Amino acid sequence: MESQKSTDGLGLSRRSFLEGLGGFGGSSLLMAGMSALGFGIASAQAAPPTLTGGGGKKVVILGAGVAGMTSAYELSKAGYDVTILEARSFAGGRCQTARKGFTSTELGGETQVCDFDDGLYINHGPWRIPYHHHSTLHYTKEFNIPLEVFVNDNDASYVMFDKGKGPMAGKPVRKGEVAADIRGGAAEILAKSIKQGALDQQMTAADRDHLIAYLVKEGYLNNDLAYKGTDGRGFDIWPGAGVNPGPGVVKPPRPFVDVLNSDTWKTLGSVTNYEQQRTMFQPVGGMDRIAKGFEAQVGKYIRYSTQVKSFRQNDKGVEIAYVDGDGKSGTIKADYCICTIPLSVLRQMDIQVSPKFKAAIGEVSYALVGKIGLQMKRRFWEEDHSIYGGHVYFDDPEILTMSLPSTGWQSKKGVILGYYQFGSQAAKVSALSPGERQALAGRAGERVFPGYADSIEKSFSAAWHRIDHNLGGWAQWTDDGRANAYPTLCEPDGRLYLAGEHLSYITGWQAGGIESAWQQIGKLHARVHAA
Ligand code: ALA
Repeated sequence: MESQKSTDGLGLSRRSFLEGLGGFGGSSLLMAGMSALGFGIASAQAAPPTLTGGGGKKVVILGAGVAGMTSAYELSKAGYDVTILEARSFAGGRCQTARKGFTSTELGGETQVCDFDDGLYINHGPWRIPYHHHSTLHYTKEFNIPLEVFVNDNDASYVMFDKGKGPMAGKPVRKGEVAADIRGGAAEILAKSIKQGALDQQMTAADRDHLIAYLVKEGYLNNDLAYKGTDGRGFDIWPGAGVNPGPGVVKPPRPFVDVLNSDTWKTLGSVTNYEQQRTMFQPVGGMDRIAKGFEAQVGKYIRYSTQVKSFRQNDKGVEIAYVDGDGKSGTIKADYCICTIPLSVLRQMDIQVSPKFKAAIGEVSYALVGKIGLQMKRRFWEEDHSIYGGHVYFDDPEILTMSLPSTGWQSKKGVILGYYQFGSQAAKVSALSPGERQALAGRAGERVFPGYADSIEKSFSAAWHRIDHNLGGWAQWTDDGRANAYPTLCEPDGRLYLAGEHLSYITGWQAGGIESAWQQIGKLHARVHAA
């Protein structure tokens, strides 16, 4: 029997070799274990603060987005006298859904009026809710907003990579085939290497056996430790009834070297990263159901089409000057102000805050983000390709991902998210007219699904960095900004409290807006009670 203590040339014991590998993930593994045991929650706060005794204190809230309406909802329940000033004629902020009649004018651009058929829509802002966003799910439950599953991963969907080498370049391949082949091939190499003694010096026989057993399972290896494919990656002839086709004919795997060099495996991960984990949800009927849920509660406090012109404060209270929808100027006074205006917009406004606070507001940049919804004549992705939801991945930055709807299964038409772009590509495409954006999306989709471009009936696109009152998709903090500006902005400046996704570590998600509002109203309430 081999000794546990036998060492390699470097004096590393076989046991410590494995323990050393484990060291890379030591604390995170421990944390994950704790979370699985129910010791942690993923979001900062799972429930709103319990507030009572607002005593009629006046709070003006700037912005009727998710953070603003969360603040208004919780504060009004606690007895505060709240007013929301909202620049748009509708509530929700970025929580928007484009359906028939939805109108959008981008800065310096054309006005688009969404003309999708009744019942069809695109969530061009937030579009998915991970299961661990307790705060968002808190309100969908509280407001009885029905949810459906958002398919955020689909083995049947395609990866369309051009830049890799070999025969897979420029061809759509099913993601599940890539996953099986890369894992199978890698497992085969490692298992055979171990069998041939490659890790004899580093591992005990028992550990090697366990590792091989794992690789056999992970990589679908046969008794000779060879990967010959798996029915999980699909069939050339699918199983059926009777003698023929009987059990079917499994598709053979692709050569490992082809899959490896294709780079298509870059779309995979053995565990989906934190933000993208399944189960993912969406509200039935459109993301703006969340906005409407809040609005049903706090709409009575909202002054729509009201543009804030200035913010002033002293040690007694705050005063906000505005112009209302009729073009009339006015002012409103209150004890406190909660401002949820994105920093990309707030930085240009006339606000009385300390120089440090003002400088911190200017520290943050906002994401360039572009999306397009394409109304398709026919659900060819379901009918011809058996793909129900999920994303098609490109390595062409022009598109990045195309996403198939997680609603309306097997109905006649559907709306595809034709592209989801970031950064310089989003900037470039946002310079195009709506018609040109549609044509670009059509050309890309045609490469994966022949007939795609012809199937497009209508489109609606959004370039968030060009949308008034937002000027960006979401806040993008640098490490420096997090270290210096962020803590400043999380604290009130006099009687002004900021809230929104930008004041969270869940930027770009509604949960960030909600939880930041919870934090700030908690602080405001504590101050009122301490006074
Ligand atoms: N939260 C954004 C998304 O789901 C970034 O795509």
